[in-house]
Amino acid sequence: MEWRRRHRYCSVTLFLIVLVFVVGLVIQDHWPFPNKIQNPKLKELLTCPTPLASNENVIPASDPSLQQRLENSLLLNISLSEEITASNILRVEPYMYIINEPKACLPRAPFLVLLIEVEPKKTEARDAIRKTWASESLAGGLGFVRLFFLGINRDTQKNGSKLQHTIEEESHRYHDIIQQNYKDTYNNLTLKTLMGMYWITKYCPEAKYVMKTDSDMFVNTEYLIEKLLKPKGELTQKYFTGHLMPHLPPDRNKKSKWYMPPDVYPGGRYPTFCSGTGYIFSGDVAQRIYVVSLTIPRLHLEDVYVGLCLAKLKIEPAPPPNEQLFNHWRVPYSSCRYSNLITSHGLQPNELIEYWQHLQSNKHNPCQTSW
Ligand SMILES: *[C@@H]1O[C@H](CO)[C@@H](O)[C@H](O)[C@H]1NC(C)=O
Ligand SMILES: *[C@@H]1O[C@H](CO)[C@@H](O)[C@H](O)[C@H]1NC(C)=O
Ligand SMILES: *[C@@H]1O[C@H](CO)[C@@H](O)[C@H](O)[C@H]1NC(C)=O
Repeated sequence: MEWRRRHRYCSVTLFLIVLVFVVGLVIQDHWPFPNKIQNPKLKELLTCPTPLASNENVIPASDPSLQQRLENSLLLNISLSEEITASNILRVEPYMYIINEPKACLPRAPFLVLLIEVEPKKTEARDAIRKTWASESLAGGLGFVRLFFLGINRDTQKNGSKLQHTIEEESHRYHDIIQQNYKDTYNNLTLKTLMGMYWITKYCPEAKYVMKTDSDMFVNTEYLIEKLLKPKGELTQKYFTGHLMPHLPPDRNKKSKWYMPPDVYPGGRYPTFCSGTGYIFSGDVAQRIYVVSLTIPRLHLEDVYVGLCLAKLKIEPAPPPNEQLFNHWRVPYSSCRYSNLITSHGLQPNELIEYWQHLQSNKHNPCQTSW
């Protein structure tokens, strides 16, 4: 008899606890569950006021939990994170816009967006790019949009900053600058690229293709559009191409620009990635990368990081039609060579202008001139 009474007390207590819990949920408006996402990690991402805050910096190598976090994140089931729709994510601006062009893709979605990462002080490089490979006159019937992505630094932040004033003047004149308040440093390039992906997701989701490139690049836009992208037709999704780096081992030389500390990335090889000097993807990929990046701790090497995102998305970077198109080094100039490639790296603004003019004047027989 004794045990039965105790049993009844236990049941009543248990019932009360459950009741309080359910009432608590109802009061907090968590019931019924607002969305299908039940994975606690993803839920945390969604409800946290700034989705990037927890890992917005480069993760220091000394962070002992990092290895585990990276491994866990790569195991997390991607089908779950795909449930996070753009509209969930786009509620929160990750970084405040100092300058934005929310209508850059209106009224007609562009065929191509040139997403160019540039330091604030590189006014001359921006001007050279506007006059050469990203000039509107090249757009032809299809249309492309040129956007420079900038952050802030000590010079732009000074009271009455001359540099900031120049940037704002440029923006008034050309409407091609997106500036946000994150620190513009080499180690923040991953962040800059993700901000580009976010921008496309939010303001230009219908763009057919996007090219991410840098300010010291020559890009043969015409070749890119006419010979690579147009022939692909309308329905390309999950497309990603550039100069492929197939399964490279991480650089463990501490003096290297690409040094990767073993405790940040313990693996023996990276997934295949495309050189950050210039890669191209179908517009849908921007949102996919941004979404999946919320589940992968940031690494400072931008192109490696994008490769990790693609691996998790199971998007295999496509080899370009030939090996000579994407060059992440400097190709010696000749009109013949430059009219048959898409990227060449490491050009000064004056060289861009000089080569461009030569290329234009030899457009019809580029392979019959002396240089
Ligand atoms: C991961 O996703 C696949 C496909 O949606 C599903 O079949 C599988 O059960 C999921 N695994 C886990 C651990 O949730
Ligand atoms: C910037 O300078 C102006 C005057 O030159 C001053 O009124 C203003 O308070 C300063 N702002 C900051 C944030 O220092
Ligand atoms: C990147 O930018 C964020 C936001 O401004 C800043 O907190 C962080 O220190 C920057 N990281 C690096 C490595 O510059």
